[in-house]
Amino acid sequence: MISDTQLLEIDERVQKWLSELDTLIPELIKTLKTETKSNRFDLVTNVDRAIEESFEAFLDRYYSDHQLYGEELHHNTDTLRTGHTWVIDPIDGTANLVKQQNDFCIILGYFIDGVPALSYIYDYERGEIYHAVRGQGAFLNQQPLSRITAQPLKDVMISFNNKVMNDETIHALLDASFAYRLVGACGLDSVRVITGQFGAHIHTNAKPWDIGAQFLFAQELGLKMTNFEKEPIDFVTGGPFIISNPGCYDEVLDILHQDGGYQKR
Ligand code: IPD
Ligand code: CA
Ligand code: CA
Repeated sequence: MISDTQLLEIDERVQKWLSELDTLIPELIKTLKTETKSNRFDLVTNVDRAIEESFEAFLDRYYSDHQLYGEELHHNTDTLRTGHTWVIDPIDGTANLVKQQNDFCIILGYFIDGVPALSYIYDYERGEIYHAVRGQGAFLNQQPLSRITAQPLKDVMISFNNKVMNDETIHALLDASFAYRLVGACGLDSVRVITGQFGAHIHTNAKPWDIGAQFLFAQELGLKMTNFEKEPIDFVTGGPFIISNPGCYDEVLDILHQDGGYQKR
């Protein structure tokens, strides 16, 4: 384990690295190059690649014994649960970057022996760095974020990716909640829950880098973050994911499980 002082020193360096992206990102966007990966909706750009490479260089320089688990470059998972591990989604919401030049973010999570210690979600367009420090709370830029007050489903907005959900489940969720909104970047949909703007965000198949930061935010702010069976999520594998206000968590999961479940039949 490392001391709180060492943790804060790492935090300071990472925040500096994030703020330096303010110079890099506009340069990269000027020459935006987009490629497809597994299908025509699965995009990667020069921005994604350059940010991940820049963080790799940051680790090489300051913390060469730390491991990197990144969406674009590093997929060796054998050793990640021990020692110092960083999970990065260099651009979450790449489709938003390409189509709207807005609503994308950088997600970073730091784990020591599998336990979350530092977390970041950087909403670059809005200049908002959300960060959390083990045992010390969560912050928007340097302002502490309040712990979440419980709210029932009927009073909250919720977001979910509806592609794999059947119509009955979608309509049940719409009827039971106050309203539906989807940002389309898992990190920023999660930020809405972290700030109390949304009651819950659901992702039916989150990748580890989509959710690498959310563990610590949930812990520090009193949110629920589990799979749909109310079990902890493995940060190395990801999978079905909900981050939720505690006041609507049970209600949302009951709806996902009712009448044979949420999956398209
Ligand atoms: C995507 C976004 C999106 C989610 C997708 C993710 P990417 O991440 O988080 O909201 O629905 O499943 O893959 O590919 O833009 O990093
Ligand atoms: Ca992502
Ligand atoms: Ca990504």
